[in-house]
Formats: sequence, C-alpha cells, structure tokens
Amino acid sequence: MSRSNMFILMIIIPLTLFQSVTGKDCVCDLKNSDPAFPENKLSKVETNAAQCIQAITSEKMTDLDRLIVGLQQRIKELENNVAMLEKENDKNLYGAVSLRIIELEFAEIQDLLNKLNRTTSDYHHLGVQAAAQLEDMKVTMEELEKFDNMQVIKKERENQRVKRELEECKNEQKATLPPPTVPPARCGLGQMVNVTGPRTYSLTVYGTSYPYGAWGRDAKPAPGDENKYWLVVLSSSNVYGHFVRQYGTLSTLLLGIGQKDTYISSSNPTTNTIQGPNVVMYDNALYYNCYYTYSVCQFNMTSRAISTVALPSDTGYNNKFPFAHLGTTYSYTDMDFATDESGVYVIYATTSNFGNVVISKIQTSNPPVVGQTWKTSLYKTTSTNTFMVCGVLYATRYLDKEREEIFYSYDTVTNKERFDLKIIIKKMQTNIEYLNYDPRDHLLYVYSDAYILTYDLIFQ
Ligand SMILES: *[C@@H]1O[C@H](CO)[C@@H](O)[C@H](O)[C@H]1NC(C)=O
Ligand SMILES: *[C@@H]1O[C@H](CO)[C@@H](O)[C@H](O)[C@H]1NC(C)=O
Ligand SMILES: *[C@@H]1O[C@H](CO)[C@@H](O)[C@H](O)[C@H]1NC(C)=O
Repeated sequence: MSRSNMFILMIIIPLTLFQSVTGKDCVCDLKNSDPAFPENKLSKVETNAAQCIQAITSEKMTDLDRLIVGLQQRIKELENNVAMLEKENDKNLYGAVSLRIIELEFAEIQDLLNKLNRTTSDYHHLGVQAAAQLEDMKVTMEELEKFDNMQVIKKERENQRVKRELEECKNEQKATLPPPTVPPARCGLGQMVNVTGPRTYSLTVYGTSYPYGAWGRDAKPAPGDENKYWLVVLSSSNVYGHFVRQYGTLSTLLLGIGQKDTYISSSNPTTNTIQGPNVVMYDNALYYNCYYTYSVCQFNMTSRAISTVALPSDTGYNNKFPFAHLGTTYSYTDMDFATDESGVYVIYATTSNFGNVVISKIQTSNPPVVGQTWKTSLYKTTSTNTFMVCGVLYATRYLDKEREEIFYSYDTVTNKERFDLKIIIKKMQTNIEYLNYDPRDHLLYVYSDAYILTYDLIFQ
C-alpha cells in the first residue's frame, strides 16, 4: 500500500535538500526519529538521487522542477485524502478505499512522469539515466513497503519541518528587522506582519518567453470553479495580451497540461485587448487596462463580452505613470488591479494628484462602475507594485536583486498612510511584474521574470 507513497517521497526529499543547501552555507540534517525505519536504505536512495540531480544542469532542471512542484501538490492532495478517511474512522473500509485512492494517485503521478519523459526527449541521455536511477529507487522502496501509510505521511511532515528549519537557518544570516506594526485588525485577519515563502515557484508552459504576465485564481469563483487557475501572458512587446489561459488545478497549470484559452480578440494589440500585466479575475470576468485608453475593461469569460468604464481623463496611461525603480521601469504598468475581501480596486495615478497613487473601488456590475476613490501621497513611480488586503493598500519597492520591501500602506477605512513598513519579500528573480492578494487563500500571487510564485502572508 505504501509503495507509491514511498516512491513520491523519495523523489522529493533529495531534490529539496540539494536545491536548498547548495545555494547557501547552511546545512540542516534530516534525521529520522523513528528507529524502526531502515534509515540507511533511505539515505542510500537519497544519495543516489542527489547524484542523479547533480548530473542535471540548472537549465535542464526546469522541467524537473515543474514535475517536483506538481508531485508536491499531489502529496498534499494525498495527505488530505488520507486525513479525511481517517476522520471517517471506518476501519474495515479504510484500507481498501485508501489503497484504491493511492492507486489512482500513483497512476496520475505515472502520467506526470511520462509527460516529463516526453518533454525531455532532447535530454534523452539524461532521461535514460534518470529512469534507471528511478527504477533502482523504486526497487528499494518496494523493500520498504511494510511501512504503513501514516508513516509516510509523517515523513512528509518531517520533510516540511526540515524545509522550514532550513529557511529559518538561512534567514538567521540576515539582520533581523524590528517587527513592523500595521493597521488594521479587520476581516478577522489581524495585522499583516510578514511574508514568507515562496510556497510555489515555477516557470509556466511558456518557459522564459514572456517576462510580463499575471496569474491567480478568481477571487469570487462561480460554484465549481473554485480550484481553477488563470494565466495571462503579455505575448506582444511585453505590453499587450489578448487571451486568458485557464487550468483546472494548480498541478495542471504547473505541468502545462489541459489548458483552455479564451480569446478577447484574434489580433493583438487592438481595441480592448489587455495593456499591462496587473490584471485580476473576479466573478468570472477579467479586469484590466484596455488597450490605449484610460479605461477599465471587464471581459466576461463566458459571454466574451467587453464592458468598459473610463477613469478620470487625467489618469496616466500608455506608460505615463508606470511602476518603477531607479534601474528599471515596468512598462505600461499604469493601472494595477487588485482584489481583496470586498472586491476589485484599480490603483493608478493622475496629474491632478501630482502623479501620486489614486485608489478607486470598481463596482463589478455590468457595466462596471467607478466607486469610492481615495487619493494618496505615494508617488507611483517610486513603487514597484501594490496590492490590497482587507481595505488596506500596500506598496512595494525594490531593495536589491534578492529583496523587495513592502514599505507603504494606506488604510481606506481610516485614510491613514504610513511609509515606514519594513516587510521583506524574498525574491527568486530580479523583477516583480505582477503582485496580487487572493482573499480566499491569503496568498500573494506573483509573476516575476516569467516565473510564477505564491507567498504566504503572516497575520498577527
Ligand atoms: C522514457 O521513455 C523511454 C523511451 O520511450 C523509455 O524507454 C523509458 O522507460 C521511459 N522512462 C520512464 C521513466 O518512463
Ligand atoms: C519574517 O519571516 C522570515 C522568514 O520566515 C523570518 O526570518 C523573519 O524573522 C520574520 N520577520 C518578522 C519581523 O517576524
Ligand atoms: C457574463 O455573461 C454571462 C452569460 O451571458 C452572464 O450570465 C453573467 O451575468 C455575465 N457576468 C457579468 C459579470 O456580467
């Protein structure tokens, strides 16, 4: 019963440790607290896997990375399934049903492996070698079959804990900042005090082709669409997009399979196509800056109808008030759409507000309506992006290649603003082109130089 579990687990542990350890000087030991587990066999598999990985250059790792993230996702699903079955507490049924589920999981994982095998046909040599190694590991794992399901789940938790410790160990190398105090404590969330992660980190099916893009989930999904993910790439000049790609689950997005494309128009750019990366999906409609205007576009994913509403006529567009830092301008990021617990906002700048950020609530009716508006004193081109959490706008700035800082907040309830926040986002790539908060999972969704990431927001 545990064979497939062991198989998954073995792949994840060595890769995680290898990737984490080589980047930094910290080393954390993976120790098994359970004496009954044949640790030496496990270590041997880990060593083999590590050697197997060392043969793979970082470029070739991309596909494998995607697979690993996909597999991690599957492990989580499997864990949920087991936990659910445990709760049902039907001893007789439990074994048979869980075995069947694990069989299904295994079949899906095999599919993912086959997919990987196909996509890495360029690296045939590597594929054959890896296949042989995997086969060896599988044999070893069959020997470990006597260890039950929950043992495996426990090991996965252990793995997560080791990963966390490794992160903490790495972070200790950096000076610890004084804890920021941030209003407010609404939406039952408490104060936002930190950002950890990334939790997800992957290229999309497009590889590094499109440095500008966006992704996430519908903040107010229709029933049945809760697990769907969307992806928008600016496929023309890093500025313009004309379709929305959707996937049924995170795993399929990460693996680039089973997508559905919905086109706004057949040519790109043209009237009402997407301009700039900072778009959001809400109630089955995409909100974005329409091509070459200071208007908000609402694209209905079902009817493919477009409704628009104009912002004030002195609103910056066509790269007038983009996000930027000293070295870089994030082209055509004049309008930034954001979702929070209460709906959709657009963040922009106007000449009458001296190029400073203006926040407008967008009423998501059809057609959309510009609602309540707040003027801030944040000069838009000194920040790199913004997002909203529970009625509070947060802005980021560029510190260096590895760190982005949430330094600013504006509370739309109290109209109080602060410039002294010091919440660090640990970057994997230099530039963040897209940043948005998902009120359903409290994660930040990031598109960074063609990579898609999520980060956990920590509330006090
Ligand atoms: C990958 O494909 C090759 C050739 O089609 C096959 O021989 C090999 O067994 C496959 N490897 C895996 C891990 O499925
Ligand atoms: C924020 O999280 C990081 C990573 O977990 C940690 O190292 C840091 O101490 C935290 N900062 C604060 C102020 O809690
Ligand atoms: C989108 O179109 C569908 C089908 O015409 C309609 O039922 C739905 O209300 C529309 N959504 C919005 C936000 O206008």
